Amino acid sequence: MVSMPDPVELFFAGERHVLRCLNLDDTDRLIAFFNSHNEETVRLRYGYFFKEMTVARARELVGVDQCRDLALALFSFGAEGEPVIDAIGRYFLLPSGRSAEMAFIVRETKRRLGMAQTLLRALAATARVRGLTKLVAQVQRENRGMIALFRKEGATVKSNLGADAVDISLPLKPVRKRSHA
Ligand SMILES: CC(C)(COP(=O)(O)OP(=O)(O)OC[C@H]1O[C@@H](n2cnc3c(N)ncnc32)[C@H](O)[C@@H]1OP(=O)(O)O)[C@@H](O)C(=O)NCCC(=O)NCCS
Repeated sequence: MVSMPDPVELFFAGERHVLRCLNLDDTDRLIAFFNSHNEETVRLRYGYFFKEMTVARARELVGVDQCRDLALALFSFGAEGEPVIDAIGRYFLLPSGRSAEMAFIVRETKRRLGMAQTLLRALAATARVRGLTKLVAQVQRENRGMIALFRKEGATVKSNLGADAVDISLPLKPVRKRSHA
């Protein structure tokens, strides 16, 4: 059976949030989240700026095969109790099947509360259980916040001469199998 993270309740700045997998019901929420981003946020996350998150693209982003890839979000709750996306962390499996590429995005008003770190740890925990050996990312050299977080979590950072992006590699310790003496 493929390991899947259970929904979990967490508090950031004293406010209740829920961490869970995204699904197709979150399509409109993802579009609303995208519409809250400024240009720099879009560029840092996607590598270039674009104005509109179409329904088709949003469906792809929330409707990933969660048994293979993983797309997690942190939700807060609006006045009527409706879920609002505040942060997303995801990885998609690379062709080797042993490593995956990750990406993060956090609402501008909710930065430095530990959301990306929480998502990174949740992604890494599931990836380990699924037998992946590392998580990788390409991050723009100027993205000091993201690079600082990866370093803090034990990743190596490799810069390539002349390139705008650095290569991140986070090794995952294999999950110990129980021995039956
Ligand atoms: C980068 C990003 C995901 C960080 O999200 P976040 O939730 O604010 O990060 P966290 O609160 O989990 O940060 C954890 C630690 O990482 C480091 N860090 C995070 N952002 C930082 C920043 N702007 N400057 C310096 N260090 C930073 C700090 O060590 C921080 O711990 P501290 O706040 O106790 O000092 C967020 O700024 C973002 O969405 N940026 C735009 C999109 C993007 O760059 N995506 C990355 C593409 S892979």
